[in-house]
Amino acid sequence: MNNNYTTIDSLSQHTNREVSIAGWLYNKRGSGKIQFIIIRDGTGLCQCIIEKGKVSDELFEQLKHLGQESSLSVTGTIRADERSVGGYELAATDAQVICPAEGYPITPKSHGIDFLLKNRHLHLRSHLQWCIGKIRHTVIDAVRRFFNDNGFTLIDTPIFTAIAGEEQQSLFEVDYFGSPLHLTQTGQLHLESAAMSFGRVYCFGPTFRAEKSKTRRHLTEFWMVEPEVAFIELDGLLELAENFVSSIVARVLKDNKSQLETLGADIASLEKITPPFYRLTYTQCVEILTSERARGFLAGQLQEMQEQKQQTEAKIAELEKQQAGQIKQWQRDKNAAELIELRSELAEINTKIENNPKHAQLAAEFTWGKDLGGSDETIISQMHDKPVFVTHYPKQAKAFYMKTDRENEKVVLNFDLLAPAGFGEIIGGSVREDDYERLVARINEQGLNAENYEWYLDLRKYGSVPHGGFGLGIERTVAWITNQKHIRQCIPFPRMMDKVYI
Ligand code: 4AD
Ligand code: MG
Repeated sequence: MNNNYTTIDSLSQHTNREVSIAGWLYNKRGSGKIQFIIIRDGTGLCQCIIEKGKVSDELFEQLKHLGQESSLSVTGTIRADERSVGGYELAATDAQVICPAEGYPITPKSHGIDFLLKNRHLHLRSHLQWCIGKIRHTVIDAVRRFFNDNGFTLIDTPIFTAIAGEEQQSLFEVDYFGSPLHLTQTGQLHLESAAMSFGRVYCFGPTFRAEKSKTRRHLTEFWMVEPEVAFIELDGLLELAENFVSSIVARVLKDNKSQLETLGADIASLEKITPPFYRLTYTQCVEILTSERARGFLAGQLQEMQEQKQQTEAKIAELEKQQAGQIKQWQRDKNAAELIELRSELAEINTKIENNPKHAQLAAEFTWGKDLGGSDETIISQMHDKPVFVTHYPKQAKAFYMKTDRENEKVVLNFDLLAPAGFGEIIGGSVREDDYERLVARINEQGLNAENYEWYLDLRKYGSVPHGGFGLGIERTVAWITNQKHIRQCIPFPRMMDKVYI
């Protein structure tokens, strides 16, 4: 960075001194005598005050008509001002327009999500996307720090693979010099071989799933971090996972409080994320889902949503009434933006009201043996104020590599971690089947081609040990922490089943 420019995040060290900042015009308002322009420079936002008489008339006019997202530098004195965005403001004495912009397509008013995704290359400049990006950065740094500080060795696993780690239906096939290969769904299988060399390892990279679901929790390309540990049992894995997740949340609370506030995250709930988390078996979950307690809980939710619906409808009616009358233009614009928000909120509430009885029925009729569905996970996680481990799933619902519980052959030694407040699964993991014969039987049972798994089976021939690990999805974790409904907001350039925008 040019040393002549001061970054906005360091303005506190420059009060009452003259500095130059450089960035983009984020927003502006003002009159013929004074202009307030907000500059963003990638490190923060700063309001600059341009007073007629303090700068040349020519410059004043140029800045007054400058378009959103024009690039410029501004020189002036820094003053502390609590009311100002970022807590400091700059009283300008000079400025230089670097590249004027006209007709920037994304205005501070609300736009539909489709429009914003088509303009993701520009929307990344918005304050909300910036806050999420900053938090994603912290999450990834905290992930690496946790493993690096706890004796894990980073192992880079391949993206082109010949074997399936998860469901075969969700493999992306690529033409590899005339032969089919897949994009990796998980680094786990390769990582297991590295665990037999290094003991504690992790991999971290993009993973691919051709899942035909358009839910708020699914991307076709997402980032996953996976630790794998030799000589560990289920209890040890759960402890590792709760310490890991707690350390991530603590780091975000420490480094990104203001971004969390801007995004409307539930900071008080995040502060509660400390070990131990809740531990339920799958069988206990089935009992909860089919219980009176769950039925009452869902009925209570329905009532709450109906009240919310009425309140939102009343607010919309009030704003519509104002819009029909005589009001100032700024008030009209503000109302219009608020109406877009409220109408989309109302649509969401209506969907939830519609889904509530369906989800209630699915839960009430849940039978032992099925995998937990998205709505079942949501119910369990809504009924808890901290993350919940769900362990010991039925063998038939889970992947071939999971170790059969020797005390109950119907279940496997696995777990999912459900984030609270209805967010749902952010981690999936298990102890791995370490017995050669049993693993071969599982591979055959699931109709997989045992020949492809020869190298993986070798690990059970040459010094097999109890081992296990898990995978945490970065986008889901960021969405949970930042309170985003859809995980597509939590990766800079999302890839989804129905659309890849840019
Ligand atoms: O539960 P999953 O499928 O587990 C595995 O892949 C194991 N092999 C991991 C392991 O044991 N090493 O995926 C793990 C996590 C999920 O909990 C979720 O957070 C995320 O990866 N995930 C997705 N995130 C976004 N979009 C998708 N389509 C995802 N599928 C899984
Ligand atoms: Mg899973």
